[in-house]
Formats: sequence, structure tokens, C-alpha cells
Amino acid sequence: MSRLLLGVTLERICKAILLLCLIHFLILMILYFNVYAQHLDFFSRLGTKNSTRPHPYYNFSRPNGTAPSYTAPAGSTGELLPPSTGPESNQSISEKPLPPCPEDPPALVGPMLIEFKSAINLERVKKENPDVREGGKYIPSDCKAKQRVAIIIPFRYREHHLNYWLHYLHPILRRQRANYGIYIIIQNGDDTFNKGKLMNIGFLEALKEEPYDCFIFSDIDLVPMDDRNLYRCYNQPRHYITAMDKFGFRLPYVNYFGGVTGLSKAQFLKINGFSNEFWGWGGEDDDFYSRVTLTGMKVARPHIQIGKYRMIKHARDKHNEDNPQRFVKIRNTKMTMLKDGLNSLQYQVINKVKYPLYTNITVDVGKSPPMSAQG
Ligand SMILES: *[C@@H]1O[C@H](CO)[C@@H](O)[C@H](O)[C@H]1NC(C)=O
Ligand SMILES: *[C@@H]1O[C@H](CO)[C@@H](O)[C@H](O)[C@H]1NC(C)=O
Ligand SMILES: *[C@@H]1O[C@H](CO)[C@@H](O)[C@H](O)[C@H]1NC(C)=O
Ligand SMILES: *[C@@H]1O[C@H](CO)[C@@H](O)[C@H](O)[C@H]1NC(C)=O
Ligand SMILES: *[C@@H]1O[C@H](CO)[C@@H](O)[C@H](O)[C@H]1NC(C)=O
Repeated sequence: MSRLLLGVTLERICKAILLLCLIHFLILMILYFNVYAQHLDFFSRLGTKNSTRPHPYYNFSRPNGTAPSYTAPAGSTGELLPPSTGPESNQSISEKPLPPCPEDPPALVGPMLIEFKSAINLERVKKENPDVREGGKYIPSDCKAKQRVAIIIPFRYREHHLNYWLHYLHPILRRQRANYGIYIIIQNGDDTFNKGKLMNIGFLEALKEEPYDCFIFSDIDLVPMDDRNLYRCYNQPRHYITAMDKFGFRLPYVNYFGGVTGLSKAQFLKINGFSNEFWGWGGEDDDFYSRVTLTGMKVARPHIQIGKYRMIKHARDKHNEDNPQRFVKIRNTKMTMLKDGLNSLQYQVINKVKYPLYTNITVDVGKSPPMSAQG
């Protein structure tokens, strides 16, 4: 009797379990098809957007797959500069006037996968960016960009990093519908590195070529991870980096103003550019920050989701040792900035070559004074 009861109970339990399994399976199927349908929808949408080929590094895990329409939180980004009123560059001659480029370029893809493992072939980069002109210049063909942007990159001994930078940044800048030129400023010889001077030289040399409105000073080893981080100038000096992988997606300190910074021509002139007197590693960016704040300006950064950067890992370059005088110098910025900068810059251009993807300007910046004369 009790055995029979047990048997019946067992049977019921088994049936209940089976039923549960079936229900579970059905729910899974429904969920699966939902997600699958969304993906189908997503891919077909990508396919119909034939004017803008999706970037190979598109982050497919982004929800919805629609073009991002990011609106900056108040206060974090600042307003764009007013449109430039400078003379027309004759590179952009066209019969009918173009509409202004949109503030929120529609071709942006948002977060991107950035890696530094694959070998980069510059000829292929050129082929993938056929509309980039000699000297690394680009002008959108379908709209008129509001600003002309010069990107100034100082370096020495880092050809390998340059390839990655060009590979990633040309497509990003084109999607941003920027009117831009790339200037690589290379310090000639093996004497102590002077990054501030190279920045100042880049500013002046770029202006000799085009009436640029906006100057972005970038290290060669920093690549943005989101193309909504617009390489443009704003009504305040801008720090494009809000989080860097090297520092666990933070900044080393709040007032850090190195890596990738952008100032309008007027803002850069107002602070007399960079100091020319920081030889070796460190300090020139803190001095630069002091110049900005001492003239009553404020640095703005993008939202943390958008201001993420990857840095190419590397060992410290030779002849770029820590500058022991940098702390003393930074304290004196207020006294020195009016006579040390663009207005006291001395240099010689050794060679200027226009390559398909960038302009190479090799310069002689002179030698660092002996230690005793510094500071
Ligand atoms: C998209 O492709 C279709 C057919 O291939 C073409 O007719 C149309 O002009 C294209 N649109 C754009 C914006 O290129
Ligand atoms: C891709 O996008 C998703 C969702 O926005 C994000 O969580 C993820 O970190 C992104 N991946 C990369 C490698 O950027
Ligand atoms: C996805 O798109 C729908 C409709 O366009 C929108 O309501 C929803 O908020 C979006 N979800 C995300 C995570 O963006
Ligand atoms: C720009 O225009 C001027 C005057 O029309 C002309 O002399 C010059 O050759 C042009 N430069 C280029 C690069 O087309
Ligand atoms: C830049 O030009 C100099 C001088 O012509 C050359 O030695 C150097 O290899 C070039 N560097 C790059 C990165 O193009």
C-alpha cells in the first residue's frame, strides 16, 4: 500500500519536473529568437547605411546597434567654438556651397576595439583612407567643417607607434567630419628631448600652411577608444582624456593635463604656448596647465564613457630622462610664462616632408643648457 503511494508520488514528481523542463525550454527559445531578431535588424540596418562603411573595429556588443546620439552632460564638455571666419582654403574649392557639417556626426560608431598587436602596413592604411591627401590632410567632401584642426605630435624614435596612431586616427577623424592636418614634429639628433618646444614649433609651422583654428597636441602612443570623443576645440581648453588604461581607467591626478590636449589658436596665444625650458621627461604639461588656469581659463573633459584611452606600452626613450628641475620650474610659471614660450622660441627646420598620411617636420631645437645654468 505504502509502496504504491510512493510509486504514485514519484511519478507525479517526475511529471512535474518534465513539465518544468519544457516550460524552461520554451522560455529560452522565445528569448533566443528575440535576441536573434534584434541582431538581424541591427545587421540589416548596418547594411543599408552604404554611405558609411562600418569600421572594422566596431564594437558589436553595443546595445541596439544604432548610431550613437550622445548628448554631453552639462558642464563637462563646453561649447564648440564659433565657426571660423578665416579665408577659404583653396583645397576645398567646389561650385555649390556645402552645408555645415553636423555637430553630431552620423557615421560615428561609439566604443571601439583598440589593440596594438597586429602589424600595420602604411600602404594599406593609405588605401583604406583614399581621401586623405598629401601631408595627412583631409577635408570632408559632403559638408563644410566649422573648424580647421591641426594635430601636432612630437616624438623621436617611435616610428612603430606612429603606424598604430595613423591606422586608428585617420578613420576616426574622417568619421568625425573634421577638416584636419597631421603634423609630426621630430627632434633632430640625440640631445635631451624638449617636448614643449616641439609643440610650439608644430603650432607655428602648421599655421604657415593653413589658417588652422584649433590645435590638438597628442602623444604618439595614445589612441581614443570611442570616436564620439570629438577632436575639436571648445570655448575652454580641452583635455580629451578622462580615463587611461595605464592608470586603471583613471587619471594619475585631478589636474593632469598631458597626453592629448586641445586649444583654439586664441587660447594658445593667450598663454604664450608651452614653456621652452623643460628638457627631459616631465613637468611641461603641469606648467602648461598652470598657464591655462593663471589666465583665467578652465580645462574641460569629455564624459568618462567617451574619454577612454589606450596607451601603447613602451620603455622610456633614451635621452628623455627625468628632469630634476621640473618641480622648481613649475612653481615659477606665473613669473616666467610671459617671457618663456612662443615669443621666445628659437629653432631651425631641418627638413619638411609631406608623406601620404602625415607631414614630417624635423627640427633642431638646440641643446639643453648645462645643469648649473638651469632653474
Ligand atoms: C546606397 O546604395 C543604393 C543602391 O546600391 C544607391 O542607389 C544609393 O544611392 C546609395 N546611397 C548612398 C547614400 O550612397
Ligand atoms: C563594447 O560596448 C559595451 C556596451 O557599451 C561595453 O560594455 C564594452 O566595454 C565595449 N567593449 C569595448 C572593448 O570597448
Ligand atoms: C533601444 O532602442 C529603443 C527604441 O529605439 C529604446 O527605447 C531603448 O531605450 C534603447 N535601449 C538602449 C539600451 O539604448
Ligand atoms: C590657391 O589659390 C591661389 C589663387 O587663386 C592660387 O594661386 C594657388 O595656386 C592656389 N593653391 C592651390 C594649392 O591650389
Ligand atoms: C622624418 O624625416 C626625417 C628627415 O627626412 C627622417 O630621417 C625620418 O626618418 C622621418 N621620420 C618619419 C617618422 O617619417
